[in-house]
Amino acid sequence: MLHIDILTLFPEMMDMFFSESIIMRARKKGLVEVCFHNLHDYSLSRYGSVDDYPYGGNAGMVMAIEPLANCIEALQRERHYDDIIYTAPDAPTFSQPLANHLSLQHNLIILCGHYKGVDERLREHFITREISIGDYVLTGGELAAAVICDAVIRLIPGVIGDEQSALSDSFQDGLLAPPEYTRPANFRGWKVPDVLLSGNHSKIEQWRYEQALLRTKQRRPDLLENIE
Ligand code: ADE
Repeated sequence: MLHIDILTLFPEMMDMFFSESIIMRARKKGLVEVCFHNLHDYSLSRYGSVDDYPYGGNAGMVMAIEPLANCIEALQRERHYDDIIYTAPDAPTFSQPLANHLSLQHNLIILCGHYKGVDERLREHFITREISIGDYVLTGGELAAAVICDAVIRLIPGVIGDEQSALSDSFQDGLLAPPEYTRPANFRGWKVPDVLLSGNHSKIEQWRYEQALLRTKQRRPDLLENIE
């Protein structure tokens, strides 16, 4: 079973997201365990703060190493972690192969970054993997952690109903997914492609592959460079 510890300044915000729908069902079924840890609980100050002014003078605050290190080390006394992840915009971008990799792990910590980031020494000595969810800056790492967890948890067998469907996602074979249609076959004269109504499975598979290739060429040609 995958166990994820999320270290955050806003556990309530995170809890809301993980208490709905597919992710909640996965937790109830015991397919994944997600625990939230309030970083304020590890504060060394009377006021519960975990940030401080940056050395050298700069705008913004920096998350201090000591409370974060204390929190991580307290968790490490309980279990061995496969990865200690830090969410930040200045990190390698998240991807489907990485989601696949993380879904096969046992224990993960995700530290949600805030303010101007964390003391660099934490990144050097505790963090084993850094992830950005895209080239834009969020107010905090919570949404990024939620995105990562969502992409990872849905890959765990039994989490989504049709296990085939996770395998046919966009990116799973390095291509975008082909278009999908459902009834009616004709809406205002807009028709579903004939091949999908043909019942010829090998033809349909061939069509889906061609469409996936075409769509990837048109929308994300960079993905094809990675395959070839
Ligand atoms: N924190 C702020 N912006 C972020 C991003 N783009 N990805 C991950 N964490 C972040």
